[in-house]
Amino acid sequence: MNDPLRTALAELLDGLPPTEVTAAVDRLIANYRGDTPTHAPILRDRADVAAYAAYRMPATFEAVHSALEAFAATVPDWTPGSHVDVGGGTGAATWAVTATWPGERSVTVLDWAEPALALGRRIAAANPALKDARWQRARIGKDLTLDATDLVTVSYVLNELAETDRAALVDAAASAARTVVIVEAGTPAGYARVIEARDRLIRAGFRIAAPCPHSAACPIAPGTDWCHFSARVGRSSLHRQVKGGSLAYEDEKFSYVAATRLPAEPAPARVVRRPQIRKGQVLLDLCETEERLRRTTVTKRHGDLYKAARDADWGDAWPPYDPAP
Ligand SMILES: C[S@@+](CC[C@H](N)C(=O)[O-])C[C@H]1O[C@@H](n2cnc3c(N)ncnc32)[C@H](O)[C@@H]1O
Repeated sequence: MNDPLRTALAELLDGLPPTEVTAAVDRLIANYRGDTPTHAPILRDRADVAAYAAYRMPATFEAVHSALEAFAATVPDWTPGSHVDVGGGTGAATWAVTATWPGERSVTVLDWAEPALALGRRIAAANPALKDARWQRARIGKDLTLDATDLVTVSYVLNELAETDRAALVDAAASAARTVVIVEAGTPAGYARVIEARDRLIRAGFRIAAPCPHSAACPIAPGTDWCHFSARVGRSSLHRQVKGGSLAYEDEKFSYVAATRLPAEPAPARVVRRPQIRKGQVLLDLCETEERLRRTTVTKRHGDLYKAARDADWGDAWPPYDPAP
């Protein structure tokens, strides 16, 4: 993770009683495990928000960053000039956008929870690219309208909304943005919400740039599997305090879709499972064009492609955009 973000998050917990923070994190974990939308702000007070930020921001940052990098590879010459983060909370996605496309741009974070916005603003002071960001209260619902923008991000928000509000949010994003990136937990329910949004964005005239190699229907038969990816997150001392153990990292599972009106070039195929490396061969599960899922075996006989397959990661484009010479 980005060092200024890590430092800013560590400083957040200074002065808060550890038992209060641990209790707030436990509550959040219980909440985020559930698949039932709560329809109410989960982040209630300063301890909740500090706990959420310190505990979840590193993971949401890595997941959104990973989704944005996959999208950025499909539009290599493009940089967003403006960004709206809806349900942005403490602003993890704004940090991920500045990590993907460094530099300043117009940034607006919308959320109905004032404590989250206040904390996001405070953390963002450590990021020069976010110094002029606007942190505004807004309620996602049928009255939501967004100003025209290059990029809208919606990370880990659909889970908290009723169906009509999810639809209203996606419609508002589709009317305002050239690119919409949606990230959800990498669970069957998270994937289902991503697919629901993906279908809606396609109906609104968007094309899918990532992770899918095409804008046709997802080839996964509903209920049989779910498309998700994994981002490695360094564990903080808070994580070790709450979860115990000594692992230096955790893997954040996430589902996402990046839809755009830009002339993006999606990957020819994407690796949709962790590659299996065997003696002299690598097994890759791919989602390909023409709406297919397929397992391919790359062996030493494939030369450079074999070397690339050994380096391939779950979530990567295949073949790599820039294969090793
Ligand atoms: C799990 S947090 C995610 C925050 C941030 N996007 C991230 O990735 O770290 C969900 C956010 O959605 C906000 N939210 C939920 N329902 C909302 C609504 N109806 N209107 C506005 N914000 C809402 C919450 O206040 C919270 O900040």
